[in-house]
Amino acid sequence: MDYIKAYEDHYRNNGRLGAGGGDGKTKVTRWKKAGFVDGMSILDYGCGCGAILEGIEDKSQYLGVDIVSQAIEYARLDYPECTFKVFTPGTLKTPKKQFIGAGSVFTHTARDLVEQSIKDIKQAMNKDSLGIIDILEGDSNNNTIHLAYWNLQEFAELLLSHGIGSVQIDKVKHPNGFTHTYLAIAYDH
Ligand SMILES: C[S@@+](CC[C@H](N)C(=O)[O-])C[C@H]1O[C@@H](n2cnc3c(N)ncnc32)[C@H](O)[C@@H]1O
Repeated sequence: MDYIKAYEDHYRNNGRLGAGGGDGKTKVTRWKKAGFVDGMSILDYGCGCGAILEGIEDKSQYLGVDIVSQAIEYARLDYPECTFKVFTPGTLKTPKKQFIGAGSVFTHTARDLVEQSIKDIKQAMNKDSLGIIDILEGDSNNNTIHLAYWNLQEFAELLLSHGIGSVQIDKVKHPNGFTHTYLAIAYDH
């Protein structure tokens, strides 16, 4: 399966709401549980159309990256003042960031991209970085592989094996009935 093409089709068929649009304020409440404070430098990994920015006041140190160019086009339309980049998983090179968010990215990504993406996230972290990887349970998409079928503990161990120093798993109930599992991450060694 051409995973990126599947995502492009998904955006084309569903518009900017198709993959993560809207609801930025609720998304930021989860980031705050993982230690995000407005004003931090940010890597928004798998930023989609940049929905999180709706809930962020200080956008000056924000970088959003995604593997699908259509997503970045939507993001640039909504937030022309912010920096966005299209990239290939496993090749990302960014300055270190204080906070790394990966919102619903691992919920539905191809399994063979997972380790590449963890490496990308790790390269943006220094010893003080915090972050969140959140996973929407109860969602599904035939074109993609759903992380809910994985053993979450196994995923946490994979993060640790890549040198991410601490991983805390928690859950929040979403107003629409879905559950967001989130992994608060820190590079603490
Ligand atoms: C459900 S959307 C969420 C968008 C945004 N994070 C949010 O919470 O609004 C998932 C996004 O992750 C991107 N994505 C999927 N797999 C990825 C990967 N392995 N690396 C980076 N981005 C990925 C997709 O292109 C899509 O834009």
